[in-house]
Amino acid sequence: MACREAQGTKNEWQTAYHSISNLCLFLSLSLPFLPFPLYFFPFLLFLIFPKTLPPHQDSTHTIFVKRITLKIIHNISKTNMQVEQFFHTNVGNDDMSYSKNSTIQSLIQSVTKSERERAVIEAFKNTSCPKIMSIADLGCSSGHNALLVVSDAIDAVELVCKELNQKPLPEIHVMLNDLPRNDFNTLIGSFEDFKKNHACFISVAPGSFYGRLFPSQTLHFVHSSTCLHWLSQVPVELQNGTKLGLNKGNIYISKTSPPFVLEAFTKQFERDFSQFLKCRAEEVIHGGCMVFTLVARKGEDPSVEGIYLQWELLAQALMDMVSQGIVEMEKIDTFNLPFYTPTLEEVKNAIRREGSFAIKSIQMFDVGWGEARDQACEHDDKVEDNATTAQRMAKSMRASSESLFVSHFGAELMDELFERYSNFMEGYFSKYPDGALTNICASVQRINVL
Ligand SMILES: C[S@@+](CC[C@H](N)C(=O)[O-])C[C@H]1O[C@@H](n2cnc3c(N)ncnc32)[C@H](O)[C@@H]1O
Repeated sequence: MACREAQGTKNEWQTAYHSISNLCLFLSLSLPFLPFPLYFFPFLLFLIFPKTLPPHQDSTHTIFVKRITLKIIHNISKTNMQVEQFFHTNVGNDDMSYSKNSTIQSLIQSVTKSERERAVIEAFKNTSCPKIMSIADLGCSSGHNALLVVSDAIDAVELVCKELNQKPLPEIHVMLNDLPRNDFNTLIGSFEDFKKNHACFISVAPGSFYGRLFPSQTLHFVHSSTCLHWLSQVPVELQNGTKLGLNKGNIYISKTSPPFVLEAFTKQFERDFSQFLKCRAEEVIHGGCMVFTLVARKGEDPSVEGIYLQWELLAQALMDMVSQGIVEMEKIDTFNLPFYTPTLEEVKNAIRREGSFAIKSIQMFDVGWGEARDQACEHDDKVEDNATTAQRMAKSMRASSESLFVSHFGAELMDELFERYSNFMEGYFSKYPDGALTNICASVQRINVL
């Protein structure tokens, strides 16, 4: 979004130009009141940004001020580039939708099923078998995965009530959260069918999980799957100021990134994750439990393994487009993904530092792209070739992250970008058929802080 502005339609940049010109006029009129050397600067600016533009749109002066104006609005809008303003997985149920391209995430959910069920039961018992049990899924997206976790949680509560001979069953209140631009319409459309087989009340809670979403001390169980690697924003130092554009040719932490890039991303993750824990600490009842998974890395260096390689291939696809003059190099230099894969130690340390939750279990696990292929072809007898698998992987990455690329490079380039990406993926998959996503699954319990 920010950068669609920076591409600048005629109206957008001219509106911005007039605002800048008005400001220069105002400052120039204030000349006698400004101390030296401040008065000289607005005067210079007013020469560059006169009140009216020369009538000839292609004059050197007009082109020059247009460039400066675009740079200014680009930087101003990027300063506020909060992910929640535009991020969403692909909507609907068509071929490019998240709901049709989330096999890998559903595999991740199946790995954590028993841990989630154990935690729901523990939360129920720890909080004195409540009459109303509140369950929240954070970053639910839409489609099959969104309600699968809820279904497992309801089954687990029913099971424990049976074991404890607890009657009547508690009323279950499910709250599904995601960012405001999530496809809540499709999600809500699936509630009616779901409720035929599951006794529960469902509501949606749009907003960022890096802020408060629910009233204090109201949640018994919280879940979040494959979300917390998304940051609230690209680290501010990489969005503007002296470090803007210094992660050249990259869209994420890469082998060629200067050391401050990793530092900036690490700090942003620490800030965001600690904010996430603080907010949940307010909302979760003492004894309540939370299970979350996020994409992670095994070693210290993020630029060697796992999902890094997939972002690297996307960067290559973009560079390919630069070499053919389809994308400007500057566009790549000013783009970074709001994404971070922490190590197990980073996550453990952050939970301990924040102090409101005790770690009941935490581990890493891999989910291979090959497994996703096998799952997707389960009902077909034929063996899928690498090109088809690569297309599937590219569509999966596209369904999760396209909105971020649209906001910076424009929707019209997406088909071409992801087609090139798919070709690079084919090479990758032939070379690394065992390529996998590393994840962390943590199960924590809200404790009393003394
Ligand atoms: C890969 S999807 C996972 C969806 C679902 N949990 C699953 O396992 O299939 C990541 C989701 O996290 C959501 N998300 C990212 N940042 C968020 C935030 N700050 N607050 C709420 N949701 C967020 C995205 O909108 C997206 O729907």
